[in-house]
This record gives sequence, structure tokens and C-alpha cells, in this order.
Amino acid sequence: MSEYLPGLEGVPATQSNISDLDGNKGILTYRGYRIEDLAAHSTFEETSLLLLDGRLPGQDQLDQFDHELRANRVVKYNVREIMKYLPATGHPIEMLQTAVASLGMFYQGDECLTGGAMCQDLNYVHNMSVKIIARMATIVAMWEQVRNGYDPYPIRKDLGYAESLLYMFNGEDPDPSLARIMDACLILHAEHTINASTFAALVAGSTLASPFLVIAAAIGTLAGPLHGGANQRVVEMLEEIGRPEKVKTWLDEKLASKSKIWGMGHREYKVKDPRATILQKLMRELMQERGGNMGPMFETALALEEACEERLAPKGVYANVDFYSGILYREMGIPPDQFTSIFAIARSAGWLAHWREQLGDNRIFRPTQVYAGESVRDYIPIDKRCTQAG
Ligand code: COA
Repeated sequence: MSEYLPGLEGVPATQSNISDLDGNKGILTYRGYRIEDLAAHSTFEETSLLLLDGRLPGQDQLDQFDHELRANRVVKYNVREIMKYLPATGHPIEMLQTAVASLGMFYQGDECLTGGAMCQDLNYVHNMSVKIIARMATIVAMWEQVRNGYDPYPIRKDLGYAESLLYMFNGEDPDPSLARIMDACLILHAEHTINASTFAALVAGSTLASPFLVIAAAIGTLAGPLHGGANQRVVEMLEEIGRPEKVKTWLDEKLASKSKIWGMGHREYKVKDPRATILQKLMRELMQERGGNMGPMFETALALEEACEERLAPKGVYANVDFYSGILYREMGIPPDQFTSIFAIARSAGWLAHWREQLGDNRIFRPTQVYAGESVRDYIPIDKRCTQAG
């Protein structure tokens, strides 16, 4: 194939058994299970194991995995020290990438990766996956204390993954409804076929880089506003709009100036992202539970989604997963600049599942290009070059 397709649109980059989506019908499945069922009945721990191993675990397997995750929550003192020297004003996703990359220096032993073209040591792959998934939440939540000059809250092993994440943000016993919503959010963000960050993970993994660097590469790719960084932008955008009645004028101005509407549009979905539908429902349920009292942001979001549908539906642009997730995280007391890191915590499960799949049948990624530059020419000595002005 020599045709260049910008953004590799429609080009299969891998063959995978992990997840599938139908962008015309709005269907997303992990290992064949519908995302709606997983969000309603599973936990992040179970969904992670499903993604990694390919099947729903039995109770003993799940208990064992849960135990391993709880036992691996502690982050080494040295990593915390590194975090203390990072600027408090820096973006949390940059801290997360730094901290995760540094973990590899403490947990070496990647002989299985360098020993041959294929990694058959599933114990190594499993143990590294546990180390990373368990620590992602600790690192993200710890940063909230560290950047504000406090010691992180002590690790609690009596809490499930989502509960522990919420507890580590503010040191309080998590509200059960919010913990359940966080669990659903983690499930919904855990995997999404070959998106940009998963592709980055695959490329890094294909070089047999350590899993910590694979995840660091994926975190860096998730950070941008066209990908995982959009959830922070959505809340900032809704704050800028302020009230539902201002939506239409604001939107018309933005569209006239060809600005992006954050949380809208997706390369693969031509209908509403099924994850956005689930998050919107969770949002409504939470609102009902609170007697309808959740401030104007949710109403503004609903009005914006409706107005966007009128104007952007002909282009197949609808709400995506990032449109409602930030509003929910905000209700949990999580600052907007941490939203993308929450996304990264969840997606680490999917990235690691793809890393494992890649190692099972690895070939280094080395695509080609369509060269559009100068043909071969002679080097010009500096005193013979024309300046731009002359
Ligand atoms: N706001 C306004 N218009 C949008 C839009 C958005 N969020 N997303 C897509 N469009 C429009 C484009 O302007 C383009 O219109 P045109 O054909 O008149 O030029 C058309 O829809 C196709 O968009 P395109 O940019 O080619 O789609 P893509 O597949 O390359 O990009 C995204 C997909 C996700 C990067 C893009 O929709 C986007 O930037 N969304 C906002 C960021 C976001 O929420 N990202 C999270 C994704 S989960």
C-alpha cells in the first residue's frame, strides 16, 4: 500500500481480541461483553482481569487479583521524593508520566522481553500489570496532597479500587454512591480498541521496552486535548458558558470561528458514544438522589448537547465519553486538571491488555512514509548560501 491516509483513518494497525465497537450502532464490547452490562454489574478489578486474561474470572481468581492489587498500592518512598521535587504548578498528567516511567528503575527484571522476540512469561506480564494498575491510582491521588504541601493519606487496604482512589483524594470514607459511579467510570474508560494512546503503547511495546515505559508513552499520548485531555476542557468550556440559556449564542460563535467543541465527535462513532449515554444516565441518577440539586453545569451540558446535535449531527458529530465524565468527577471533589489522570488510571488496564497481546505475537512497528521533500542535492558551504533576505 503506498497511499497516505492522514491519521491512518480506516487503516487496521493490529489484529486484536480485546474490544470491539460498531460506530454506526453505538455498540462497544470488551471481550464480547457489552459495556452497558459491565458498567452495571462488574467492578474495575473484574473488568481489568477480563481485559487482561480474556475471560470473566471465577470468584477465587477475582479475590486473588483483588488481593494482589491491594497489596501493590504502596508506592516507594523514592518515587514520592521525586514527586516532591516536581513543580506544584505543573500539569498532573506530566507528573504521572514521570512517576510511572521512574517505577521501571525500581522494578527491573524484564529479561523475558529481551530474551527473544516473543514474551512467553505470563507471570512476568501479569505481575507487572498488577504493579502498574495498582499504583496508578495511588500516584494520581497522592499528587493532590503532595502538590498542596501535605503528606499523602495512609494507604488503606480495606477499600476496593474505586473507593481507595476517592479516599486518597480527600482522606474521607467515600460516599457509596460516588464510589459506585467512580467504579463505573473506570470500567467505561478501561479500553477502547486502537485509539491513539493504545496505539502508542503498542508501538512502544513492539520495541520490547519495559511495561513502565510502554505505559509512560501511552500516558503522554492520552494527555492531548484531542484525546484524554478533552475531559478537562469540557468542564472549563461549561464554566465559560455559565448557564443553559447562553448555550446557543456561545455555540454559534464557536462554530462560526471553526473552534472545537470539547467532548464532541469521534473518529469511529457516527452516533452518540454509548459511554456518554451511560455517564449521562449516572449523572441523572445522582441528581435525583440529591433532590435535583447539582448546580447549573449539568443543565448547561444537556442544553449544549442538544444544540450541538441540531448543528453537528449532519457531520456525524455527537457527544463522546469525555462530555459527561468531568462533571461527575467534579461532583466527587476532583480538580479538573486531574480528570485526564483519572482516565489514564482506568485505561492502564486496556493498555496492558494490548501490551500482553502484542508480546504474544510481536513484530516491531515500522511503517513507511510518502516522501514529499527535496530530491538528493549537493551540500552548500555556508559562505555560498543565500540568506533568506537576500
Ligand atoms: N467540534 C466541532 N466540529 C467538529 C468536532 C468538534 N468537537 N469534531 C469534529 N468536528 C467536525 C470537523 O470540523 C469536521 O468538519 P468539516 O468536515 O466541515 O471540516 C468533521 O466534523 C470531521 O471531523 P474531523 O476533525 O475530520 O474528525 P477526526 O476523526 O479527525 O477527529 C476528534 C476526531 C475526536 C479528534 C474530533 O472529533 C475532535 O477534535 N473532538 C473534540 C476533542 C474531543 O472531545 N476528544 C475526545 C475524543 S474521545
